[in-house]
Amino acid sequence: MIFRKFLAIMLMSLLLAAAFWGVRSNAPAGKAAVSLETASLQSTLSGSGPLLPLPPVPDLPADKVALGKRLFFDKRLSHDDTIACATCHRLDSGGSDRLPVSVGVEGRKGGVNAPTVFNSSLNFVQFWDGRAASLEEQAAGPIHSELEMASDWARILPRLRRERPQLKLFLREETSDHAIEALHHGRADCVLIALPFAVYGGVAASTTEAAAALEQEAQSLARQLDVDHLEFRNISPRHADWPTQDLYVTFRKEILPEVDANMQAIPRKQRAMVRKGINNGLISMVDRKSDRFFKLFADNVHRHGTPALPKRYFDTLLQVFGDDCEILTVTTPEGKPLSSVLSFYFRDEVLPYYAGDDEVARNFAANDFKYWELMRRSCERGLKVFDYGRSKVGTGPYSFKKNWGFEPQALHYEYCLYKRDSIPQNNPNNAKYKLLIETWRRMPISLANFIGPHIVRNLG
Ligand code: HEC
Repeated sequence: MIFRKFLAIMLMSLLLAAAFWGVRSNAPAGKAAVSLETASLQSTLSGSGPLLPLPPVPDLPADKVALGKRLFFDKRLSHDDTIACATCHRLDSGGSDRLPVSVGVEGRKGGVNAPTVFNSSLNFVQFWDGRAASLEEQAAGPIHSELEMASDWARILPRLRRERPQLKLFLREETSDHAIEALHHGRADCVLIALPFAVYGGVAASTTEAAAALEQEAQSLARQLDVDHLEFRNISPRHADWPTQDLYVTFRKEILPEVDANMQAIPRKQRAMVRKGINNGLISMVDRKSDRFFKLFADNVHRHGTPALPKRYFDTLLQVFGDDCEILTVTTPEGKPLSSVLSFYFRDEVLPYYAGDDEVARNFAANDFKYWELMRRSCERGLKVFDYGRSKVGTGPYSFKKNWGFEPQALHYEYCLYKRDSIPQNNPNNAKYKLLIETWRRMPISLANFIGPHIVRNLG
């Protein structure tokens, strides 16, 4: 609904500004709009020559006008892509088609002729019989008229959306495991993933129709791009009948209102580790810059033989997410950085996402201290949910999160397969995967560094 209104407003802005193009296209070189205005009035009053537009309404937003102009010439507004507003309202011919009756899709003839659209923003009502009170109301008329464009918003919106930049977020060339696999096959493995840098998220929509429309759009985009598969990373299942990956879980737990209650909720052994960190005099601090975090993160992944994301990526996250993205770094009492985590805040949740440790962090229990500090600070901020993030079932990080008293919750990665028969299996126990890891380790460092930044690494 909002988008419809938005479209109507676009077209309206355009008509308000149509006067402006009229002036431009009719302007003899070097003549100012003011003198044209006079000329226009004179010719209108004297009844000779074509109707000329008045100067534009001041202070119209330029971007809306530009979009409105594009829509005015866009044939996708008609059901068979043949007719634009400009077909009947020719801006180079006084804003009309100069025909006895206008001709719409498939040569269908209307009952009346097209009035000019120049200066129509000044009309006190629209259409010959005044049945539309405003331009906003008028814009839907020709789109739905069987004799004109014979279309409707439901058909038009998906077509227009194809051009909206947000959709580009859908498209990423690959993620970690796919990249490794692609290397193995010696070809680019092209997949389409909703939220490739996120461990889950799924479709964001406020109605089921909107969600279905988004999924449909992603599917047609996937076919258009000729990808191997399309992947949705849902936190709850949406399509039980689609192939689903059951390898990943996330760990979510309520943050209790009292700091101490949260400490008590940590199982005894793990709590002892947190206390060890506290007794070591460790300090936690929020970093405004990514430097200390990135050094720890990059060292860490290098030690594990996995490729790192570029620093630029984290700087961009900090910049784009603002207060919703935060780095917490743990140092020794002397200020040596030991452990760091980059978290997101979403509504009343905290989501630690990327983390790194120094080699000696373990001796100080800095990692344990770090997550406790994040939990404590989140509690003080009044947050309600701690999302420990994604892990593969049966891995070290999986056990670590369980040790904190968190219960695994299955993630539902749902797939549409186009060029493969089964969903990608990235299970570390998979023999093929082991071979790939080996290949990765043997890869020359320069090549690994080149590919590294393309590879996504998530906590766990
Ligand atoms: C098939 C030809 C055709 C197309 C396409 C068309 N129009 Fe029209 N337009 C007309 C005709 C005919 C009328 C007069 C209809 C009536 O009064 O019943 C009209 C009336 C109008 C009016 C009212 C002007 C006035 O003085 O009352 C405006 C504004 C307008 N059109 C804008 C648009 C916009 C914006 C589009 C594209 C979304 C569009 N038109 C598409 C033929 C067309």
